[in-house]
Amino acid sequence: MENTPLIEFRDVSKIYHMGDEIIRAADHISFKIYKGEFIAIVGQSGSGKSTCMNIIGCLDVPSEGEYFLGGKNVGKMNTNQLAEIRNEMLGFIFQQYNLLPKLNLEENVEMPLMYAGVGKAERLKRAIEALASVGLAEKAKHLPNQLSGGQQQRVSIARALVGHPSVILADEPTGALDSKTGRDVLKILQELHKAGNTVVLITHDNSIAATAQRIIRLEDGRAVYDGPSDNPDAFVHSEFGMHAGDGAEEEEE
Ligand SMILES: Nc1ncnc2c1ncn2[C@@H]1O[C@H](COP(=O)(O)OP(=O)(O)OP(=O)(O)O)[C@@H](O)[C@H]1O
Ligand SMILES: [Mg+2]
Repeated sequence: MENTPLIEFRDVSKIYHMGDEIIRAADHISFKIYKGEFIAIVGQSGSGKSTCMNIIGCLDVPSEGEYFLGGKNVGKMNTNQLAEIRNEMLGFIFQQYNLLPKLNLEENVEMPLMYAGVGKAERLKRAIEALASVGLAEKAKHLPNQLSGGQQQRVSIARALVGHPSVILADEPTGALDSKTGRDVLKILQELHKAGNTVVLITHDNSIAATAQRIIRLEDGRAVYDGPSDNPDAFVHSEFGMHAGDGAEEEEE
């Protein structure tokens, strides 16, 4: 099963009903992502990024078409099975870190292992290892609000890594950070990729997407480009004529 994609969308659509109106937030999207790839899903506000992220992250299922994660058909799973495969296969990094404010860093990072039923001693050991891998082991007993934004995002990366997930899924991971700190976080993602991890980065920012190897660009729920990030077509932007490198300081929506 060497050639089984880690992630496969087969003609996936997500349909929302707003009164009489039908919105196709994802419109017949197909792609395959293989182990070890670093891929960015990019597109303007409303293009369907979060819709795809929720499906990839097993937080939602397609209305039509099929989603396979590690060869398993996720669309057929119930809520418990979704939670299980999510915990086993995916590590999440969010824009707003989502750290629990009353827990110290070590306790935040060991959270996914708790859900996975790993014992206390092993959890502690692995949480400290993960914190060390982002340069924060010495702050293990600190609370999140005693850290800078960039440090908090590194803690959330440690939390994403601690369960050794098959896929690291990062949704606008630099969105809340200044550009220098954002670059440091992107560097960590690139290092994780070099170490063999599969990274899926979701962003509206072309210059951030350009750090990935491969780009899938969404427009109105459709995948209009899927290919290498060094092709200018990856970033052609119909309204504003933006190209790779633009938009680093673009406003948040
Ligand atoms: N729960 C929902 N009910 C109805 N429409 C929705 C829902 N969620 C998303 N949509 C619509 O689906 C489309 C895609 O939304 P989505 O959130 O995936 O975009 P996005 O690319 O993540 O945008 P942003 O960059 O602003 O986060 C939009 O037109 C949005 O209004
Ligand atoms: Mg979104």
